[in-house]
Amino acid sequence: MNNLTLIQPDDWHLHVRTGAVLNTVIAHTAQQFARAIIMPNLKPPVTTVEMALVYRTEILQALPQGSAFQPLMTLYLTNQTTLEEVQKVAESEHVYGFKLYPAGATTNSDAGVSNLTALYPVLEAMQKYDVPLLIHGEVTNAECDIFDREAVFVEQTLSELVKNFPDLRIVLEHVTTEEAVQFVESTGKNIAATITPQHLLYNRNAILAGGIRPHYYCLPILKREKHRLALVKAATSGNPKFFLGTDSAPHLTHTKENACGCAGCYSAYGAIELYAEAFEQVNALDKLEGFASFFGADFYKLPRNTKTITLEKNAWTVPLSYDGITPLKANETLAWKMLL
Ligand code: DOR
Ligand code: ZN
Repeated sequence: MNNLTLIQPDDWHLHVRTGAVLNTVIAHTAQQFARAIIMPNLKPPVTTVEMALVYRTEILQALPQGSAFQPLMTLYLTNQTTLEEVQKVAESEHVYGFKLYPAGATTNSDAGVSNLTALYPVLEAMQKYDVPLLIHGEVTNAECDIFDREAVFVEQTLSELVKNFPDLRIVLEHVTTEEAVQFVESTGKNIAATITPQHLLYNRNAILAGGIRPHYYCLPILKREKHRLALVKAATSGNPKFFLGTDSAPHLTHTKENACGCAGCYSAYGAIELYAEAFEQVNALDKLEGFASFFGADFYKLPRNTKTITLEKNAWTVPLSYDGITPLKANETLAWKMLL
């Protein structure tokens, strides 16, 4: 197969930041995707609908001229989130959910939730208004091994949450383990998961074998090969509970190539090509369109896109840098290229 035409995809998990970086990265996303769920972990975090609308305007202004790209905003859940704010989200046409960061789990998560049970009234309201909860699923206690943090979260926190709020729509973001995949598969239609390109393409050797490679460091961290295989199986299964969310997370190169480097892989420049690579490795390109273009929209109760994009088998070398950001697969070859 040398050409692949798909309904235009959406990215259901994306970091675009603010300021100069935003200009670079939003152009990449808007080239490929019709819509994206925008993560709210700015400094300070986006905690109210009012703040989200200001951020949305900044994103729209940063878009290349003529772009029809739509940012779908989210709010950062904190210990202070009010019931009124949940109602405002339910009534907003631009805000699509709350993101739960356990405090300390990742980049700019200090303001995250430290006591989930104290927030149960807020979750109750989200369930009532059918507002989705997007979860960074890792425990944060220092005693828990970093490679176990997702599986422990699923077992201890998520299973309780789902029992207590059986109708709450939940996206377990960027799943990285067999345990998370099995959990999502075993629950109702209201529980789904996003999968990143890096977790489909790499296992933890990419970060650590033969030298430390900070551009493969993201959170949740890459896991063993058996987990990667479980993710590939889920993504290519045709099960609508699994859909595309890049978690493209730009950091300037020097902040990753650092004694204490930031977490995040930058994939927005060629996200659909990276997924195509992963799907082709298991002869599942026929499953890419559902994963990339249909299942996320269906879960968020939004119309599917109608335009198409075409990928061509035409190998190209990924640049070393995009305006100071080292991309995933920098200076390596990608087999597919989207036609512009
Ligand atoms: O690797 C990550 N980077 N994981 C996250 O959860 C956050 C993200 C970021 O914002 O840099
Ligand atoms: Zn993220």
